[in-house]
Amino acid sequence: MMNRARTRGIDHFGLTVGSLEDAIHDLRNALGAGLCYIEGPIRDPEPGWMSAKLGARGSCTLRIAALNVLGTNLELFDYAGAAQRSWTSPPGAAGTFFLLLRTPTPERIISRLFNEDAVVRPVEHPVPGYEMGLPSGIHLAIQHGPAEQLLGAVCLNRYDHDRALTEFTGTFGLREVEAVTAFGASGTVLAGDHGAPLAVLHGHSPAPRPANSDPGGHHVAFHSDDIDASLASLAAATRYVPRGAPETITDGPIAGDRWVYLDSPFGLQLEVINMPDGTLPYEAGASALRAPITIGAFA
Ligand SMILES: [Fe+2]
Repeated sequence: MMNRARTRGIDHFGLTVGSLEDAIHDLRNALGAGLCYIEGPIRDPEPGWMSAKLGARGSCTLRIAALNVLGTNLELFDYAGAAQRSWTSPPGAAGTFFLLLRTPTPERIISRLFNEDAVVRPVEHPVPGYEMGLPSGIHLAIQHGPAEQLLGAVCLNRYDHDRALTEFTGTFGLREVEAVTAFGASGTVLAGDHGAPLAVLHGHSPAPRPANSDPGGHHVAFHSDDIDASLASLAAATRYVPRGAPETITDGPIAGDRWVYLDSPFGLQLEVINMPDGTLPYEAGASALRAPITIGAFA
């Protein structure tokens, strides 16, 4: 049954980093990530486009790297020239994003970091594992689990958290899977029938929410078969505000991609996207492909 937002689960997570190259290095090294494509530099096609469409702080240029990290799609954003604010919020505070890896062999990941300048903290409770800050600034929790799975984790203040849980399950059709705690924040793992799982956590302390162009800025993107139908449906829901009209990318590695960002009623930046995997220009020469949400799933 189609959910209210007419989406099919989470296509990718987006995270703004200080250096694209450093972040790619970290995720390749720690998690064996595959680089799908690098897009950009993207410039304002018209004054104010970056701030209106993406939520950036003013005019800037942007490069985006897409990675397939253990079957989860991750977009890394590197903004240059934006008035950036560097929050010092600790991971697990409201407004932060981190990656959560569940794996039967946490030690195998840790051994890969032996020669890296990562700050690793062993954790005993409630699940044994490790919490770390990678040199590029990405925060990663590794927990012992039966199968290897990479989740995006968003930390929200308590009011936003409750609203987010209601909206993700009610409007976006995700289901609650289990409780989870990492970086001192506790909450719920949500999953759809397709796409990446998401952890929605109570932040352990208040912190300002970064803009998309600040390091640590992030978004959660849902796949839609029909962006315009999703927008019409979400317009009927309360307080989802699209950032302008949807756009279809006409050239470059992901020509054919149709997308729009939305401000959500719980503070988190969302996106609905239709990435036509299997027909994208980058695929011909890529060493890694995106994890497609659609192929085979809706035939
Ligand atoms: Fe995105």
